[in-house]
Amino acid sequence: MKHLLKLMDLSKKEIIEILNIADQLKYEKKHGIEHHLLKGKTLGMIFEKSSTRTRVSFEVGMYDLGGNALFLSSRDLQIGRGEPVEDTARVLSRYLDGIMIRTFAQAEVEALAEYGSIPIINGLTDYCHPCQVLADLMTMREHKGNLEGKKMCYIGDGNNMTNSLIVGGIKMGMKVSVACPKGYEPDADIMNWASENGEFLCTDNILEAAADADVLFTDVWASMGQESEAEERRKIFKNYQINDSVIDVAKSDVMVQHCLPAHREEEITAKVFEAHADEIFDEAENRLHVQKAVLVKCLGDK
Ligand code: CP
Ligand code: NVA
Repeated sequence: MKHLLKLMDLSKKEIIEILNIADQLKYEKKHGIEHHLLKGKTLGMIFEKSSTRTRVSFEVGMYDLGGNALFLSSRDLQIGRGEPVEDTARVLSRYLDGIMIRTFAQAEVEALAEYGSIPIINGLTDYCHPCQVLADLMTMREHKGNLEGKKMCYIGDGNNMTNSLIVGGIKMGMKVSVACPKGYEPDADIMNWASENGEFLCTDNILEAAADADVLFTDVWASMGQESEAEERRKIFKNYQINDSVIDVAKSDVMVQHCLPAHREEEITAKVFEAHADEIFDEAENRLHVQKAVLVKCLGDK
């Protein structure tokens, strides 16, 4: 695997291979078994948006694998002052063994991959969040076993998380339903692809989407970069919340996932969040294990 730019680029077989490596690395870490598979390698981590989980899990992941990670804030890099991404890519390729980037435009991540000569990993764009959804698939597998035929439901804004969840869920053979207010649906091409390749529903009716769900997902109503719309979005999304009524129509053993950070009493009630906190923090933990698997696949010696 050369890069991880978006989940659409991965086959089901490649996704399963990443999840299997992640399961093994998780087990071995818990048993004190170390694998310095990336000894001497350095990952640059470019952040043009904030992060807690992505930054810390990639940094610890590189350390666990015997390598190093450099935190590169766009506030300090010349890229933040307008140096073209094409030049940044070619310069950093001379120093680093891989780049993880969190930014706004998906095109910037694709340009890094095009102009650079080292593996590029997408740590979130406005379009998608592939690392998070690999961790979500890993967590669902841990809790639910085989994902084939299981129903995943997402309630809220049709954003980067939704786009990746649809692709990841459909590729793994899950039924995927999404409830969004009109005008806030996920990417149209992804929805068309999902309808052609699996069982997919997009509706503005939350209870219809959540009926018999095995897993419920939600995410913030205003993503990073949409802070100025937050007030307006609070009104538009006020009914798009995971609460007791949604839990009641899902399967009795439904699990709840949230990529975090969460806004209690907005997209999820505090009660539901706390009742499912173990599953949600397993999901956060699995970022570490799944990203180590991605790092090994992208930066490891073939
Ligand atoms: N879920 C996630 O990507 O978290 P951070 O924004 O803290 O990295
Ligand atoms: N949709 C959120 C996800 C954060 C991990 C955002 O882009 O801010």
